Amino acid sequence: MTTTVRHAAMESAMPEPPPVRPFAVISGAQVQKVLEGREKQLVELVEATYRLHGAGDSVNPPSYFLRFPDRPSSRIIALPASIGGHIGVDGLKWISSFPENVQAGIPRASAVLILNDRDTGYPFACLESSIISATRTAASAALAADRLTRNRPRPTRVGFFGVGLIARYIHTFLAANGWSFDDIGVYDLSADSAAGFRCYLEQSGSTGHITVHDSAEQLIRMSDLVVFATVAGKPHVTDPAWFSHHPVVLHVSLRDLAPEIILASANFVDDVEHCLKAETSPHLAEQLTGNRDFLQGTLDDVMSGKAEVPTDRPVVFSPFGLGVLDLAVGKYVYDEVTRSGQLHVVDDFFHELRRYG
Ligand SMILES: NC(=O)c1ccc[n+]([C@@H]2O[C@H](COP(=O)([O-])OP(=O)(O)OC[C@H]3O[C@@H](n4cnc5c(N)ncnc54)[C@H](O)[C@@H]3O)[C@@H](O)[C@H]2O)c1
Repeated sequence: MTTTVRHAAMESAMPEPPPVRPFAVISGAQVQKVLEGREKQLVELVEATYRLHGAGDSVNPPSYFLRFPDRPSSRIIALPASIGGHIGVDGLKWISSFPENVQAGIPRASAVLILNDRDTGYPFACLESSIISATRTAASAALAADRLTRNRPRPTRVGFFGVGLIARYIHTFLAANGWSFDDIGVYDLSADSAAGFRCYLEQSGSTGHITVHDSAEQLIRMSDLVVFATVAGKPHVTDPAWFSHHPVVLHVSLRDLAPEIILASANFVDDVEHCLKAETSPHLAEQLTGNRDFLQGTLDDVMSGKAEVPTDRPVVFSPFGLGVLDLAVGKYVYDEVTRSGQLHVVDDFFHELRRYG
C-alpha cells in the first residue's frame, strides 16, 4: 500500500517525457530512389549548407581518422557535425575507405550516417551513406565548377584524372546542371577503370568527343576544367607548366598536386581549418611556406562576393568534405522517405525509456 502511494506521487511529480522518435533504417536503394534525378535541388541544398556553415550556423569539428598499422592503405573516418537553419539536425558520418576492395570487385568506400534529434539527442535514423557521400561531393564539385568559372568562358573541354565512382557522380552532376562538353578527356592508371568510365559516358548519352589519354600531361594541357578523383596519397603531378593555360581544377582527391602547383595557383577550399590538415596538397604548401597566403578563401567567400576569382592563374578548389553536407543530404532523404510513407522503423530500438523502469 505504502509503495503504491509513493510510486503514484513520484509519477505525478515527474514532467511528461519528451517524445522519442522511432528509430528508422534507410537502405541504399531508398537513398538512391530519393536522390536520382534531383541533381539541381541537391546543388541548391549544398549551396544553402555552405552558406549556413559560412555564417557560423554549424558545428563541424575536425574529422577523426582511424588508421591501421597492419593495413596502411585503409582508413575509417568519423565526421561528427551539427547544422542549423531550416535543416536543423546533428549527427555523424562513419565512412571507410579500403582501396583494395576495387580489385575484389566492390566499391572502395562504404558508409553509414546517423541522424540525431536536436531536442533529445536520440539517434532517429541510420542511413546507407556511400551514395549520400558521393552525392554531396559531386554536388559540391558542380557548384564550385559553376561559381569558379563565372568570370571566364565556360569550359568546354573537361579532363577526368582518376575515374572511379566519384568521377562518375561528378560527371552526372555536371551534366544534370547544364554542362555540356565538346571534349571529355579521361586518364587513369588502370586501363579497366578508363574503359569502364568510357562505357558509362557512352551509355549516359553525354555529348562530346571522348579521348582516353595515356599521358597525364596531355590530359591536363587539353582541359579547361580538370577533375582529380584518384586515390593518390602523395603528390604525383609536379610540373606547374602543365597548368600554363590556367584551367579550373576540382581537386577532389586533395593530394595529387605538388605544393609548387598550389603556390602557382589561386586556391579555394570548403573550410580552411579542415583542408589544411591530413597532408592534403594545401597542407603541404602551408608546411613549405609557413603561411596561408596562397589561399584566396572559401567557396562561400566566392558566393558572397568576399573573394575574387582571378583569371590569370590556374584556379584550384580543394574541398575537404564537410560532415554538414552529409547531414543536409541525409536529412533531405529522411524527410522524403517519411513523406512517402516508406520509412522502415525498428520497433523498440530504444528499450529503456523510463529512468526507474
Ligand atoms: N573531398 C571530398 O569531399 C571527397 C569525398 C569523397 C571522395 N573523395 C575522394 O575521391 C577519390 C576517388 O574516390 P572513388 O570512390 O572514385 O575511388 P575509386 O577507387 O573508385 O577510383 C579511384 C580511381 O583513381 C585511379 N587512380 C589512383 N591513383 C591514380 C593516379 N596516380 N593517377 C591516375 N589515376 C589514379 C584508380 O585506378 C581508380 O580508378 C578518393 O581519393 C576519395 O578519398 C573526396
